[in-house]
Amino acid sequence: MAVIAGNWKMHKNRGEALAYLQEFAPLVAGSDREILLCVPFTALAVLAEKLATTGGIALGAQNVHWEASGAYTGEISPPMLTDLGVQYVIVGHSERRQYFGETDERVNLRLKAAQSHGLTPILCVGETAEQRQQGLTEAHILAQLAQGLVGVKLTQLIIAYEPIWAIGSGHTCQPEEANRVIGLIRKEISFLQQVGNQPADSVRILYGGSVKPDNIDDLMAMPEIDGVLVGTASLDPRDFARIVNYRQPD
Ligand code: 13P
Repeated sequence: MAVIAGNWKMHKNRGEALAYLQEFAPLVAGSDREILLCVPFTALAVLAEKLATTGGIALGAQNVHWEASGAYTGEISPPMLTDLGVQYVIVGHSERRQYFGETDERVNLRLKAAQSHGLTPILCVGETAEQRQQGLTEAHILAQLAQGLVGVKLTQLIIAYEPIWAIGSGHTCQPEEANRVIGLIRKEISFLQQVGNQPADSVRILYGGSVKPDNIDDLMAMPEIDGVLVGTASLDPRDFARIVNYRQPD
């Protein structure tokens, strides 16, 4: 099933989140897509309560600590999220790597902790414009996967390919190029499944970076792209509903 995930980043208070849901939910009712809203910690509880009765929309957080509890001021643990009914969590988003010193080692700890508490992590990988210019895209992504996925189960996992130069820039990666890189990630995952003697379950791989209502149909027409992770366009309920309800080629 295609995964259509919104990442609200640091947007919307509780009232705005509820108003959004009221408009968004009817527009996607009965959808056969896996719809996911990754919202700020402060909006999780109020949305969880509403979604328990709405159904069809899952909740995700945008980060998680690796310990279940402890003296970690300002952090949120996996059991705190599952207690609210959260099922997914974004891990290693490029904004966390870029602005908050996130490392592959910590990404790895978060992934393992999320999985062991029953959360499905969404691991974000992707190259900078400079790395792309230097021909380092593939090597960089493979290194992020190699370091991030040590000891991580290759089931109960979603990966998002988010080229940093495409995030919030309006410059979407060409669908064919996103398809190529995602194909490469898929090959690597199936290699890691083989060498790690893990079941060859399919890990869904999403594209993220300036996904909009006017490019979603072309992106989802690509065979390797299992879904999208949407920032800016997920903030508007009508835009995001149009993305959820993308049209498939005849
Ligand atoms: P934009 O859709 O605003 O480019 O953001 C993408 C993103 O970072 C999703 O995680």
